[in-house]
This record gives sequence, structure tokens and C-alpha cells, in this order.
Amino acid sequence: MKALMSATMLAAALWLQPAWAQVPNEGRLLASNCFQCHGTNGRGGFDELAGERKSELLHKLNEMRVKSARSHIMNAHAHGYSSEQLALIADYFSRLPKP
Ligand code: HEC
Repeated sequence: MKALMSATMLAAALWLQPAWAQVPNEGRLLASNCFQCHGTNGRGGFDELAGERKSELLHKLNEMRVKSARSHIMNAHAHGYSSEQLALIADYFSRLPKP
């Protein structure tokens, strides 16, 4: 009986797991902050990011990150991310088809 109760409670806990606890693609989640200006999935906004080379995107983002945050909206954005996060974002956009 105790084992059945534990199994039921475990099943309930898994079922009740909040949606944010299941991050399917961390790169996409981080990149969604960019969608507002660069378009959903990097299409249809300012410079389209979808399908750009990862190394190129990462290079640009790293350059922006070391510039003054006040000098351009993108510098301010880039400042907010770690190197690992920028790499995940660049990787995500680079895997999308070019518009
Ligand atoms: C508030 C609006 C805004 C948001 C949000 C934003 N950007 Fe930008 N981004 C811009 C603007 C404006 C430019 C400059 C466009 C231009 O000069 O033609 C730019 C330029 C860029 C460039 C340079 C493009 C090029 O080819 O030189 C990259 C790369 C970039 N953004 C990546 C990102 C990423 C990645 C994110 C999310 C972390 C992001 N942006 C979020 C507004 C935004």
C-alpha cells in the first residue's frame, strides 16, 4: 500500500511539473528575446539572423558585448548574456534555414 501511494505521488508530481521546468531547447528560449526585433525565429525583423553562420554571429555578439552598453541597443543586449548563452543563441539561429 505504501509503495502504491509513493508511486501515485511520484506520478502526480511528474504530471504537475510546471511547463518551464521542461526546457526543450535552451538556445531557442534564450533567442526568443531577440524575436521582438529580429522577427520570430530571426525572420522578418531588423537584420535577419536565421541561417547566419554560427561563428559570424558569435563574433559579432562578442564584439558587441565588450563595447559600451549605452552606445547601441545591441551592445546592451549582448552584455546580459554569458559566453555559453551567446554560443547557444548563435547555434540556434545558425541551424534555421535562411529566409
Ligand atoms: C530592441 C530591439 C532588439 C533586440 C531585442 C535585439 N536586437 Fe539585435 N539588433 C537590433 C538593431 C536595431 C540592430 C541594428 C540593425 C541595423 O543597424 O541595421 C541589431 C543588430 C544585430 C546584429 C548585427 C547584424 C549584422 O548582421 O551586423 C546581430 C548579430 C544581432 N542584432 C543579434 C541579436 C541577438 C542574438 C539578439 C537577442 C539576444 C538581439 N539581436 C536582440 C535590435 C535588437
